Amino acid sequence: SVLIIDFGSQVTQLIARRVRETGVYCEIVPFQKAEEGFERLQPKGVIFSGGPDSVTREGSPRAPQAVFDSGVPILAICYGQQTLCVQLGGAVEGGHAAEFGRADVEILKASPLFEGIWEVGKKYPVWMSHGDRVTVAPEGFEIIGVSPNAPFAICVNEDKRYYTTMFHPEVVHTPDGGRLLANFVHKIVGLKSDWSMAAYRAEMVQKIRDQVGDSKVICALSGGVDSSVAALLIHEAVGDQLTCILVDHGLMRKNEANEVVAMFREHYNLHLIHVDAVDKFVGELEGVADPETKRKIIGRLFIETFEEEAKKLGGADFLGQGTLYPDVIESVSFSGGPSVTIKSHHNVGGLPERMNMQLVEPLRELFKDEVRVLGKELGLPDSFIGRHPFPGPGLAIRCPGGVTKEKLDILREADAIYLDEIRKNGLYDVIWQAFAVLLPVQTVGVMGDGRTYEYVCALRAVTSVDGMTADFYHYDMNFLGKAATRIINEVRGINRVVYDVTSKPPGTIEWE
Ligand code: XMP
Repeated sequence: SVLIIDFGSQVTQLIARRVRETGVYCEIVPFQKAEEGFERLQPKGVIFSGGPDSVTREGSPRAPQAVFDSGVPILAICYGQQTLCVQLGGAVEGGHAAEFGRADVEILKASPLFEGIWEVGKKYPVWMSHGDRVTVAPEGFEIIGVSPNAPFAICVNEDKRYYTTMFHPEVVHTPDGGRLLANFVHKIVGLKSDWSMAAYRAEMVQKIRDQVGDSKVICALSGGVDSSVAALLIHEAVGDQLTCILVDHGLMRKNEANEVVAMFREHYNLHLIHVDAVDKFVGELEGVADPETKRKIIGRLFIETFEEEAKKLGGADFLGQGTLYPDVIESVSFSGGPSVTIKSHHNVGGLPERMNMQLVEPLRELFKDEVRVLGKELGLPDSFIGRHPFPGPGLAIRCPGGVTKEKLDILREADAIYLDEIRKNGLYDVIWQAFAVLLPVQTVGVMGDGRTYEYVCALRAVTSVDGMTADFYHYDMNFLGKAATRIINEVRGINRVVYDVTSKPPGTIEWE
């Protein structure tokens, strides 16, 4: 495996992505815990990430001496390059104007790092982002790549197998960066591509068996990809020792709860309890308009309902969860510094503490798209794996103003027609997320010879990579016209449709 020491760069996760794409397992540890991580993982190679600090500042982060003593190959990027150079006797100077953006490196000498990619005497685009720069290389190092503003763009010690770059190979703006990282991993560290989902599945199944023994496990199944894949993996490991609980809060999309239940029971033969808590949830939400209050009510009721069901089962020692790698990385750049709560996201976060159970989290090492690959490996249909994200509080946050059973039903119908049109027009996979919102506004219309006074439905569709930022989807107006006509004709209670053309930021994807 490869260990990535995180010095706080915003893009450290991308290094991990690129390394895993080469078929090699890797982990990220924050620099404060690098020594412990290095001992635990016993990696065959180490990568130092970039970071926002200046090595010229007293007390700035350093790499553990043990890494240098062990003799493993190192790839050191940006801040990583600077700390490596300083730690091995070179010098770094601050106070230069920060350089951001594209630069061209000229290759001066061949290296296994460039094999099959870069040729001597030619120039290649890379992405730089730094303030300080190396001024004296440590003994035994030579410069094999330069750019106009970075005389130490690529500085290496081939004997020790230490490779340092001032640019970031992990970002897409360094077009050959992924292949450079692959060369480091395969040619320099010497690791084979043997990290596949099939191997991961087998390894995890064994790990779950070792952890759980003969004990009982319960899982909250929401119907989302993460909880579904986690449940299937645990089921494969311990079979009937697992019971899944689907809390049906009445806030799901049309037919969704029934489809999920049918699939897991019939196709996977998984022990699944379908809890009908619709009246409880919708009853308590009735008339509540404040978005945060809605979210809190749903979160509380979810935990209460789940707890009650678990009690009926006689409890369990283990709680299965679909926690993903981005949720557990102790990333330097995200620690510290208070951030503002925009929305209190609802998931099963509060459960383990309340119920005093141990966690089984078989997806803790995976990124979202890797979970999809694993889901496919476990036989989940593409149509299920490729579904748009759906928020935990469901349709409640798509009914601004008070929620009622009637409004939820109207919204469910409109949403189903909208998504049906999207699918029919081949747009489902192009759009990242699409849904209907039922506004608490009634407007006047005319239908046949009569006056109508009914709700407005807003349609939303966005493109995005990770949901952090998003652009509204630029539909063809004919599509919108057709979807609107169908909704108005087929759904009683809606007589007007509007399209949301807000991007995120400044809007959020959901309306609440
Ligand atoms: P926003 O509205 O914050 O949404 O731009 C970003 C993504 O997160 C989803 N979302 C949630 N997911 N629980 C969830 O599990 C929540 O409370 C929640 N709120 C928003 C939203 O659907 C979008 O994909």
